[in-house]
Amino acid sequence: MRARRAPEAVTHAPTIESLLDEERSFPPPPAFREHALVRDEGVYEEAAADPEGFWSGLARELLWTRPWGKVLEWDPPHAKWFVGGRLNVSENCVGRHARGPRRDKPALVWEGEPGDERTLTYAELSREVNRMANALRSLGVRKGDRVAIYMPMVPEIAVAMLACAHVGAIHSVVFGGFSAQALASRIQDAGARLVVTADGGWRRGNVVPLKATVDEALASCPTVERVIVLRRTGKDVPMAPGRDAWWHDVVPQQPDHAQAEPMDAEDPLFTLYTSGTTGKPKGVLHTTGGYLTGVYATTKMVFDLKEDDVYFCTADCGWVTGHSYVVYGPLSNGATVVMYEGSPDFPDKARFWDLIQRRGVTIFYTAPTAIRQFMSWGEEWPRRHDLSSLRLLGTVGEPINPEAWTWYHRAIGGGRCPVVDTWWQTETGMIMITTLPGVDAARPGFAGRPFPGVEADVLDEEGKPVTSPHEGGYLVLRRPWPAMFRTLWNDDARYQSEYWSRFPGAYFPKDGAKRDRGYYMILGRVDDVIKVAGHRIGTMEVESALVSHPAVAEAAVIGKHDAIKGEAIVAYVIPRGGAQVSEQELRDHVVKALGAIARPERVIVTPDLPKTRSGKIMRRLLRDVAEGRPAGDATTLADPAVVERLRRSFGESP
Ligand code: PRX
Repeated sequence: MRARRAPEAVTHAPTIESLLDEERSFPPPPAFREHALVRDEGVYEEAAADPEGFWSGLARELLWTRPWGKVLEWDPPHAKWFVGGRLNVSENCVGRHARGPRRDKPALVWEGEPGDERTLTYAELSREVNRMANALRSLGVRKGDRVAIYMPMVPEIAVAMLACAHVGAIHSVVFGGFSAQALASRIQDAGARLVVTADGGWRRGNVVPLKATVDEALASCPTVERVIVLRRTGKDVPMAPGRDAWWHDVVPQQPDHAQAEPMDAEDPLFTLYTSGTTGKPKGVLHTTGGYLTGVYATTKMVFDLKEDDVYFCTADCGWVTGHSYVVYGPLSNGATVVMYEGSPDFPDKARFWDLIQRRGVTIFYTAPTAIRQFMSWGEEWPRRHDLSSLRLLGTVGEPINPEAWTWYHRAIGGGRCPVVDTWWQTETGMIMITTLPGVDAARPGFAGRPFPGVEADVLDEEGKPVTSPHEGGYLVLRRPWPAMFRTLWNDDARYQSEYWSRFPGAYFPKDGAKRDRGYYMILGRVDDVIKVAGHRIGTMEVESALVSHPAVAEAAVIGKHDAIKGEAIVAYVIPRGGAQVSEQELRDHVVKALGAIARPERVIVTPDLPKTRSGKIMRRLLRDVAEGRPAGDATTLADPAVVERLRRSFGESP
């Protein structure tokens, strides 16, 4: 096993300003608190005293077709929630609203990048979901089958996800920025029978050729029988006879009603692949009843969601945030969800602010990397727009530096909107650590407190709680929570060993943390996963991609601090024999293997790497070189001169 990063190793030197900011505290503004759904601090104690009672109270707000018996069956590390209960997620997110007073309420308010627009009311969304459910069934999809979804951010991606839930198929959404090889490995692991895609999607004025990527991937995916292709860009794409069908040929003529599959609370809802410490992505498996309860409850309480809110989360459905806080959380609450297809700087850098103004967005949820990007573009862009409809801001995906937090609060929130910094993961399914905006003060740099019913801790190497607010340690979660992942697809052994063995009895999310007066500051990953623009990338995956190039003998990949993206990928590569290979060729090779999101910023071709006498690569020194810091202790190196040589190679322009 490779060396873990110690929690303190992942914090970047704080500036004086950030140290000052960390002492700042923003209590809920009185006007906000007065109308907040949760105003009473007591919710934390009540939930702690009776977590099962707390969660079942919230689960009861959903529509069940058969009541559960036991709330929780905990056979560590395996949990079952709402045992014996039955419900259907699509019915909860769409059907029940379409049959009630929300039928004409906008459910999805969508804008395409080129400027096209569509609004689907709950009644309209329900009709689309039912038709797609019928189409899936007509193509042979049944409960338990896997369906891969590789689509742009258009209403149909939500329709496809909900239609899978409707018929009990397990969806696996793959982000449109992944390459054909990455898509293929996910389809193969899941054993998907059907793929839903589009002819392409729009990104910064260009077409992302999704269908071409699917075609390339399917050459090595024998389980896939059918492909449904949405016409989005109108560009010509080849259609494989007998395999590919246009969405407009198989969906619109279907009946408007499809019987919703009765699902057991523990039946799988979806898998979502995410990066870990090895070269192989993990299929995180979420189930039905607990997941929906968790995302329903957190959307409502963390975002203080009210009937007339207009909610905009900028995440793509290819990531867990898009699952939990674009689709399932807000729709189960009957909210109006704004969805945007493209890039925030198209046609100009005010795209989001223009959208917020025109649509009267009240709740805005985005990532620190985006906030830092907005900061770098300058305050004049938001200043030209009326953002007074906003009442709450959220952030997720990586630690937010206090400078970015305070900028967001001031420049976007006008100083009047609470900011919720929400810590969670693909695995946790729902927000775990944050502030309740009508109860808790926000402290920039701190995510906040464990959500009611959640129990967290910070442990040292030996597994003892860290009590000093000045010391970092390992974050753990002690109690099962309803939206927790149940296992890894096809790999329960890895589920147990990766997450539950480091600290017996506790879930180890692999983040470092510090705790001060009950507030948690997240220090970043302590494993070999880096966060590039909020996307989770396994350094081992990039290394495997590099060594698959015939000219590469060995590769070491690290995350280098980046002012906007949080981290950037830097690779050090030893060529095979005397092979000649350029930095550009290796970058392209990684993009081909994994996708553009994993493109290394630098690839340093070097004859040797800093290794200990026992042959272990000292990644810490590689980070020092990449960040231009004086190298730390190098006395254990077999050849101390290596670091100097690397420094010179790094300085040479790419
Ligand atoms: O390191 C933490 C970071 O993102 C990781 C989870 O990544 P992923 O599964 O892709 O899910 C991202 C969206 C939920 C965590 O292990 N992370 C997420 N939110 C925060 C965060 N780090 C600090 N503060 C956050 N609010």
